[in-house]
Amino acid sequence: MQETLVLIKPDGVKRQLSGEILSRYERKGLVIKALKLLQVPRELAEEHYAEHKDKPFFGELVDFITSGPVLAFVLAGENAIVSVRALNGATNPVDAAPGSIRGDYALTMDSNVVHASDSPESAAREVHLWFPEYK
Ligand code: CMP
Repeated sequence: MQETLVLIKPDGVKRQLSGEILSRYERKGLVIKALKLLQVPRELAEEHYAEHKDKPFFGELVDFITSGPVLAFVLAGENAIVSVRALNGATNPVDAAPGSIRGDYALTMDSNVVHASDSPESAAREVHLWFPEYK
């Protein structure tokens, strides 16, 4: 059994896509283990995106994820990490297949609706970062 950290970013929450997106994960068979709606503190955003801190778009990433409420949750299931990433579609919505979340709901890389952990290592780090009280 694997766990992964998923965020519905401010664009997805604002557009009232949370229920639709959560139900896609649940229908796939993934189980919600923890969930919260929060206004992301700047320090948490910077820690979450630490691997991008030297990239030119780091400031925009942090500004965007702190621009409005985010729905953060932990999903569990067999192969949860790759399954969630497949449901999300490619990071750049231009490359995301129709039927995937980004393929259906996003147009640009900066407003790409969802984030999900990309490896077992990042999942462990991100679950602990967003849900220090979990487990
Ligand atoms: P996310 O899964 O939240 O993780 C990092 C984010 O950086 C990614 O989604 C994109 O929204 C964003 N991103 C990745 N590459 C670029 C890029 N070249 N320019 C702007 N944003 C990017």
